Amino acid sequence: MLDLLITNATLPDGRTGMSIAVQDGCIAEVTEGLDAPAHEKLDAQGLLLSPHFVDPHFHMDATLSYGLPRINESGTLLEGIALWGELKPLLTADALIERALAYCDWAVAKGLLAVRSHVDTSDPSLLAVDALLEVKRKVAPYLDLQLVAFPQDGVLRSPGGVDNLERALDKGVDVVGGIPHFERTMADGAASVKLLCEIAAQRGKLVDMHCDESDDPLSRHIETLAFEAHRLGLQGRVTGSHCTSMHSMDNYYVSKLLPLIAQSGVSVVSNPLINITLQGRHDTYPKRRGMTRVPELMAAGVNVAFGHDCVMDPWYGMGSGDMLEVAHMGLHVAQMTSQAGIRQCFEAVTTNAARVMHLENYGLEAGCDASFVLLQARDPVEAIRLRAARLKVFRKGQLLAETPAATASLRLAGRGASTSWMAPKHAG
Ligand code: FE2
Repeated sequence: MLDLLITNATLPDGRTGMSIAVQDGCIAEVTEGLDAPAHEKLDAQGLLLSPHFVDPHFHMDATLSYGLPRINESGTLLEGIALWGELKPLLTADALIERALAYCDWAVAKGLLAVRSHVDTSDPSLLAVDALLEVKRKVAPYLDLQLVAFPQDGVLRSPGGVDNLERALDKGVDVVGGIPHFERTMADGAASVKLLCEIAAQRGKLVDMHCDESDDPLSRHIETLAFEAHRLGLQGRVTGSHCTSMHSMDNYYVSKLLPLIAQSGVSVVSNPLINITLQGRHDTYPKRRGMTRVPELMAAGVNVAFGHDCVMDPWYGMGSGDMLEVAHMGLHVAQMTSQAGIRQCFEAVTTNAARVMHLENYGLEAGCDASFVLLQARDPVEAIRLRAARLKVFRKGQLLAETPAATASLRLAGRGASTSWMAPKHAG
């Protein structure tokens, strides 16, 4: 007797009429049209069943602090960093934990069950590190929280930066972070990349650096990051986040850079909502979009994922933990409007992001965790267009969240009684 059997599901790869059999928290079988005894059965009615969403880039120590102690008036990255500096002395562990747990509730309700969060290590007390390690323990039964030691003020620029970061790793933070474009000079930025990659190599850790979050086309730390990943044998274990300067780089240089990133096995995480909001602030017109070269990186064979980065914090006042909103913005900014492009944007918040985080047992195949989302949509394109309702969210076979289907009742003479914004299928 199975624990759970889902029938008549559409999968992201386009297969329809699929049954997913679940036993002991794992997917036992994925087969077309299977019927078998099960304690619980769910007819998906042809709707999309997707592996859960994954956010590979977030800041959970800052989330839901919007307005504390004041609002970012200029809207720039640098005022956001300054504002965060004003907030840090006021932080308490209890308030930080409460906000982070509230955000994790939002995430689960949106089918977002794995988050990589940077945690600022600049404060020698490591208050935020301890708080997020506590949050990680608390949410472990329902959400995978991976932490990155992030020296927000610059690991070389701020006194004790290296020591603070190493102590955070000693405490159990998972990944080595960095912010080379915020160091004092390009040379210091490159030195920080080398140092941090060496620390990761010695400790057997993954790397994820904020890299070139700038409009400056000469901010080229991604080159050093790729070189160090290659030199230290860290292929597949290193991520460059943001990489917005690539948007403004000279095309000839990029033609050399893309193969280097691909050969080094470095993943790139773009954060569409934040990049379109924070970059280009020094421009008048034309005003740059400020997001990295997503389709070009993908075409070069680089694993590219989308992150949410911020929700209601010093840098960004919007957001609700919805990775479909992230994918929606990503496809607009990157102009990835082909059917294939839209599907790639869906992969950027699911499978590609899972690869960045090295999630084990992720996917919709036999042997994977039974952690998936039933969406009120018939395919990934419709899911992104509608930011579709997460009808049911399962983790390891357990139902964690339900949302009613989105419908509107209509009072139109001679027309149907309701709509759920699903377009009629083309006939023939
Ligand atoms: Fe970030």
